[in-house]
Amino acid sequence: MYDVEKIRKDFPVLGRQINGKPNTFLDSGASSQKPMCVIKRMVDIYTNEYANVHRGSYFLSEEITSEYENSRKIVQKFINSKSDKEIVFTRNATESINLVASTWGRKFLTKMDEVLISEAEHHANLVPWQVLRDEIGFELKIFKINDDGSFNWDEYRRNLNGRTKLVAITGMSNVLGTIFPLKEMIKSAHDVGAKVLVDGCQYVVHQKTDVKDLDCDFLAFSGHKTYGPTGIGVLYGKSELLEAMQPYQFGGDMVNVVTYQSTTFDEPPARFEAGTPAIVQAIGLGEALNYMMSLGMDDVTAHENELVAYLHSRIKEVDGLTEVGTAAGKGGVFSFDIAGIHPQDLAFILDKEGVSVRVGHHCAAPLVRRMGYETLARASFGLYTNHADIDRFINALQKAKTFFKD
Ligand code: ALA
Repeated sequence: MYDVEKIRKDFPVLGRQINGKPNTFLDSGASSQKPMCVIKRMVDIYTNEYANVHRGSYFLSEEITSEYENSRKIVQKFINSKSDKEIVFTRNATESINLVASTWGRKFLTKMDEVLISEAEHHANLVPWQVLRDEIGFELKIFKINDDGSFNWDEYRRNLNGRTKLVAITGMSNVLGTIFPLKEMIKSAHDVGAKVLVDGCQYVVHQKTDVKDLDCDFLAFSGHKTYGPTGIGVLYGKSELLEAMQPYQFGGDMVNVVTYQSTTFDEPPARFEAGTPAIVQAIGLGEALNYMMSLGMDDVTAHENELVAYLHSRIKEVDGLTEVGTAAGKGGVFSFDIAGIHPQDLAFILDKEGVSVRVGHHCAAPLVRRMGYETLARASFGLYTNHADIDRFINALQKAKTFFKD
């Protein structure tokens, strides 16, 4: 049984007062809070277990190498990949996508090809493809979504063709909350011979992810959104693709034989992890994913769906509020505008009430513009969000309305 009040106790920061008010943290879409088990594990490593990995022939180094590699196995379990060799540790999802663009993209894309992305992409899954397009000359196509933020099959199918080499799509929009029908989209892309990269940043936090079932070719996500530390991310890639890719960066720990004249490179994933990696962060990420799995990802999804329903039942009380992105089945991300109140002013008032929301373009400026705005406010949920958070959020919005009356 999912007990959100018990879960909240694992996150001491939620018990803090902010500006003299209970901490109402509604910005987990930007970065989530960390449970004590992750914090303790990382402190413990630095206190008792720290050494470099893959380099030392001594106890501490061997012990921590085994912890680091075990974390890879936890990621493998979390996304159900065939092998832990398909898991590359990166800095974050942005680096994972850049890695694919720089290595797979540079090697396999030509100016005859097309790369297809959606209107709902985060800058991290737009800008790398623009830059690569300018270098290689392929066509970067962007398929439209519906005005309510939902996925549009006609638009997607209309843009897929024999020249499509790569489809790079978000699993869940960080602005609209829309969850794309990934499995069917991937199947359609494969039918025309395209590979598929999924930006799973929001997606993997909100539901069980099974890369074998989805059959995606690449999946990127960040540790800091999955209740883990910053500075660690994941790139999943099918073995045959990773094996065909050149390294992303060069240096120690990714080589086989090095002479003054030339170098041979290690197999994946080591080939893509040049230099000392984010050791403690990787182990912290493993701890965080174990924490999520121990709660049960289906229960996490059910909890968030219930929160979205509760928010929808209460939001009608706020006059002049427009929810931006109303696709059926959306996840726990709620972007909105209130007539007559600039989002920045709104954030200021909410902050005074202890309510943290994000305002701005949410690193998806073209999408926010496409929805008809320059800037939006956004509340986003985590697995610890409860009804009291939503009640305080609604009360704070009412207060803001009173403040800006006339
Ligand atoms: N991409 C993160 C967000 O949506 C930072 O806020």
